[in-house]
Amino acid sequence: MYVLGIETSCDETAASIVKDGRRVLSNIVASSISLHKQYGGVVPEIASRKQLETIVEVAEAALKKARVKLSQLGLISVTDGPGLLGSLLVGISFAKSVSFSRNIPLVGINHLHSHIYSAFLNRKNIQLPFVALVVSGGHTSLFYVKDFHRIEIMGLTLDDACGEAFDKVAKILKLGYPGGPLIEKLAKGGDSKKIRFGCSKTKKPLNFSFSGVKTAVLYYVQRQPARYADVAASFQDTVIDVLIEKSFLACRMKKANRLVLGGGVLANNRLRQEFSRAAQKDKVSIYLPEREFCTDNAAMVAGLGYQLFKNGNLSSLDLGVNLN
Ligand code: KG4
Ligand code: ZN
Repeated sequence: MYVLGIETSCDETAASIVKDGRRVLSNIVASSISLHKQYGGVVPEIASRKQLETIVEVAEAALKKARVKLSQLGLISVTDGPGLLGSLLVGISFAKSVSFSRNIPLVGINHLHSHIYSAFLNRKNIQLPFVALVVSGGHTSLFYVKDFHRIEIMGLTLDDACGEAFDKVAKILKLGYPGGPLIEKLAKGGDSKKIRFGCSKTKKPLNFSFSGVKTAVLYYVQRQPARYADVAASFQDTVIDVLIEKSFLACRMKKANRLVLGGGVLANNRLRQEFSRAAQKDKVSIYLPEREFCTDNAAMVAGLGYQLFKNGNLSSLDLGVNLN
């Protein structure tokens, strides 16, 4: 079955065609990030206006690249939240109108759950159940996945999301936006052992808190002349250590030996390597999405939509934004 995925939860306008929930035939992502750079973050009104202008073009490009016609689609899958309200509405309205006019079934998808699914794309299978970590610009969450309509939350961030912390530290170090890739690049020339930062402890062991480490970086560079490459490397390793510690703790708590990772921060090579190393030590199998599917995209939305649809999930034309 061919599924059209639509994703407009943040700055991006994305459309993709995925066959039978796995094979990605096209994955088009039009980002408006260059328009937001001067403001140091995504401006919702600019994002949704751009999405309104580009959504038709992007969906057409996804169909064309996949060599699939509208009449061949078996399902339309669209992100219905969480994310920016106006942006989500553009994607949902578009998906609903195509569904209605062409009589194609529709399913609304949770954005975080679709990030978990990204590791399944272009891969044969991952056995259920497993523990999943999603690290993005808006969320840092640990899940226990029995199957895709029974996803249990195990931990979440109490303040900044992990990607948000990268973005804010990049701002402190005057690197630009988005900060994740810039920190990673700068950290390559740095010594992560030079400075010791720490993440705040949380009452519940599987929750996260990143605002303390961000403030520690700010005070550190204000107080003394510092080599920014060392600051970036130390910050990056502090965050990676915490993510690893809590993810493997979650695996032990659930006696799970499979860990699935997803979200924009997974584009970070150092994080990928360190997780792989830790997994070998703990005898846990880890599953990382291809880098193309880490940051926001519609292939993960189409893929998860297929699985839910197979399980009998469908949305009506009443589908609205779901911000929870
Ligand atoms: O999943 P995503 O594309 O969007 C959200 O759903 O939020 O994640 C975007 C986040 C941004 O905060 C960005 O700085 C971060 O992912 N990111 C990275 C890297 N590439 C993107 N963080 C660390 N290292 C990277 N290489
Ligand atoms: Zn995302």
